[in-house]
Amino acid sequence: MNPVAATAVELRLARRMGRLSGETAFEVLHKARLLEAKGHDIVHLEIGEPDFDTPANIMEAGITAIREGFTHYTPSAGMIELREAAAEDIRKTRGIPCTAEEVVVVPGAKPTVFFSFMALVEEGDEVIFPTPGFPAYESLTNFMGAKPVPIKLREEHDFRLDPNELADLITDRTSLIILNSPHNPTGGVLNQQDLRDIAAAIGDRNIMVLSDEIYSRLIYEGDFHSIASLPGWKDRTIILDGFSKTYAMTGWRLGYGVMRADLAKHFGKLMTNANSCTAAFTQIAGVEGLRGDQTAVENMRIEFRRRRDQFVKRLNEIKGFSCRVPAGAFYTFPNISKTGRTSKQLADALLEQAGVACLAGTAFGEFGEGYLRFSTANSFENLNKAADRIEEWVGKSL
Ligand SMILES: Cc1ncc(COP(=O)(O)O)c(C=O)c1O
Repeated sequence: MNPVAATAVELRLARRMGRLSGETAFEVLHKARLLEAKGHDIVHLEIGEPDFDTPANIMEAGITAIREGFTHYTPSAGMIELREAAAEDIRKTRGIPCTAEEVVVVPGAKPTVFFSFMALVEEGDEVIFPTPGFPAYESLTNFMGAKPVPIKLREEHDFRLDPNELADLITDRTSLIILNSPHNPTGGVLNQQDLRDIAAAIGDRNIMVLSDEIYSRLIYEGDFHSIASLPGWKDRTIILDGFSKTYAMTGWRLGYGVMRADLAKHFGKLMTNANSCTAAFTQIAGVEGLRGDQTAVENMRIEFRRRRDQFVKRLNEIKGFSCRVPAGAFYTFPNISKTGRTSKQLADALLEQAGVACLAGTAFGEFGEGYLRFSTANSFENLNKAADRIEEWVGKSL
């Protein structure tokens, strides 16, 4: 007789799991792959990752590191070489003092978002984040049992948040404000004056800012500015940066957070508990990324701009579409409200009937209704092919 009979048991999930959301980009990618398996030809403009290979010098550094035995644990907060290289980069690009002990190396950009919530947000707190916006901000706010306080980014304001609206949304419960510039999904970029006004709106309240600067090197108009560069703001800001977008390294999983040293210690503890450390050879490759030749980065930026200019021009020629020129990142976010379809209806139809995978603006929150997001991290030829297909489909169907 078997005393421990295997019976089906109900999955008893922690309640918080019901508050965590997925990401539409991955769902659309899956749907597009199923269509491809049935013989459809799809142009993929749904996923936000550079189509370029990781630059050769970085790949070589990673491969050599594996051969040299960098295949073991590293300190949880990262190897000192990479923390120093990142600190040096922050000093150079943001014009502020920064030391290695203020840098925590993590696997990708997302852990810096996750750890910021874990370290700073209590149940019942309020978190302000841009909408439309990167889905993890709202999902993690809900996960923590905090209250989401979305701040709208308006097309007529070039998708830059309005500091007056921000001032109205801040309360005594606000514990974290998230900025993201250049912005996913709209390509909006905050200028120096915007940041000064945002800082003034927050004033001297004890609120931390998570500044998601993952697209900081992908700017086509004007310069990049960080709120951390304003006098007194370095210690009130967590800078999120990483390698996925700038160095076409999405699959390497490498990023870092920059923050006051006392908070960095807590991030290190979160790393110890969650990941032990980031892969050693990946970190060595990261040092080469930051300190090595930057020609490939600049070439990618120039090519992203060329694609942006062409794709925006093509979209603006399509009936019912109107598209601002995004100043940064690699997304276009056309207004499609004049097509008479909702974002989701149009995105589904373009995938199923025109062979173009893109995302409904609502994948980035309700305020994304009336827009689509196309990633321009695909070849010039494929972007033209997508524009041809959309134009033809609109001509036939609307
Ligand atoms: C605004 C923003 N933050 C963070 C991330 C996450 O990047 P990673 O893949 O390095 O975790 C992304 C990726 O799309 C993003 O768009």
